[in-house]
Amino acid sequence: MLSRADLTGLIATAELSGPGFINVRLDDAALAGLLAEVAADDRLGVGVTSAPEIVIVDYSAPNVAKEMHVGHLRSTVIGDAIARLLEWLGHDVRRANHVGDWGTPFGMLIEHLLDLGETEAAHELSIGDLNGFYQGAWVKFSSDPAFADRSRQRVVALQSGDETTLRLWRMLVDESEKYFLAVYALLGTTLTSRDFCGESFYNDLLAPVVDELGALGLLTESDGAQCAFPAGFTGRSGEPQPIIVRKRDGGFGYGATDLAAIRHRTQTMGATRLLYVVGSPQHQHFEMVYQTAREAGWLVAPARATHVGFGLVVGPDGKKLASRSGEAIKLVELLEEAVTRAAALIVDSDLDAATQADVARAVGIGAIKYADLSSDRIKDYVFHWDRMLSFTGDTGAYLQYAHARVQSIFRRGEVAPDRGAPLLLVEPAERALALELLAFPSVVETVAETLQFHRLTGYLQGLAGAYTSFFETCPVLKSSPEIRASRLLLCDVTARTIAKGLALLGIESPSRM
Ligand code: ARG
Repeated sequence: MLSRADLTGLIATAELSGPGFINVRLDDAALAGLLAEVAADDRLGVGVTSAPEIVIVDYSAPNVAKEMHVGHLRSTVIGDAIARLLEWLGHDVRRANHVGDWGTPFGMLIEHLLDLGETEAAHELSIGDLNGFYQGAWVKFSSDPAFADRSRQRVVALQSGDETTLRLWRMLVDESEKYFLAVYALLGTTLTSRDFCGESFYNDLLAPVVDELGALGLLTESDGAQCAFPAGFTGRSGEPQPIIVRKRDGGFGYGATDLAAIRHRTQTMGATRLLYVVGSPQHQHFEMVYQTAREAGWLVAPARATHVGFGLVVGPDGKKLASRSGEAIKLVELLEEAVTRAAALIVDSDLDAATQADVARAVGIGAIKYADLSSDRIKDYVFHWDRMLSFTGDTGAYLQYAHARVQSIFRRGEVAPDRGAPLLLVEPAERALALELLAFPSVVETVAETLQFHRLTGYLQGLAGAYTSFFETCPVLKSSPEIRASRLLLCDVTARTIAKGLALLGIESPSRM
């Protein structure tokens, strides 16, 4: 916090206005000078960090041979925005897609694959019928003891590195990853196949983790399992809470993998900021993993880890979102529906069919991302088609439309903005717009710290509102040459700020719609 600011040359007047309030009026020329710098800057006044870090963003993380659910959608949308933002600020961002690709379910999944035959199984998986496949395996596992037996033996074969088993496992993973990549492509994320780094990746690191924890005296045997009891975690009656590192049967669980991942991320990759974009129900799990890692010396300053939690996705009725028939929603279908619904909204009939399709995708996908990122991350998020796909209200489409409208001025006037033109801020609406534009860097900084993207969407809404007032009171194309050049530049900086803000959220800004 600044306790004292040097405002020489910035302030035109300052007067007391009631107890605790000072009305400050910025000097017009000073304001114009500040905005001129922003206008000439490709980064709109947002600096590159002077302390770049290696940041791991652990996000998306669906499970192999299982449908991605809306929680994975949230993780993907939020994590991607974080990665984009921190990268833009100059950090070395490593995307970590901690896919659930290991563990006991693979025994039954591989046996099911063998029953179906490889060709049929590959077909089922490639059409994205992951739930059908998983259900098929599960039904047999719970009703057919011979199948269950085979499945258990298969887990042992998998863990001991049996070649045939590993090949079949790889096939399940590959087919599922193809499906996940199709979802990412439709969603327009920055995640690629190179970012897959599933639980199996840490397999060889698990034994060393247990050994090291043991040598440090951090493991206690409890009920045959090896457990860590991180300080500060107690159950209802005050008893210490365990994190299971090695299970009674000798297998490793989710906790062990996450411990190995932290150790790898800080010690091998050299990361100092670890962000885990995972639903709030896993909060306790992560806090316990972090505390154990601190006690083991794997998470020490400047390295730190943060659980970036988020609430559930619920339907307008407040219940868990489900399809009409009550099953879990298929993510691809949800995204396709968004695009179809958006197509019906597009108003610009001059656009050719291909452009219309592009715009529909930008608006439909943008609507889903915006609705997610504009709500307070920690709260449950209400999925409401009509509300999110509207040109009015706090929506992505409203901002995309505002952006396209600003752009249309340049088209209508057949002019390009002159980024070196002098800015003349005369009308109150011009000053108000200038002040909004100047706030962008501090908003970006706040969001980079808090990872609360609704602060960015709120800012963009305010900016679009200030632009509307400006546009209604200040003629642009019909003004005198100097005023016109100044106002065109205000339009230009507005359009660029909205487009950049949306881009940080992973949302496109079509120039016409
Ligand atoms: N696959 C897990 C799930 O679907 C999420 C993994 C999150 N990341 C992690 N490092 N544990 O719930």
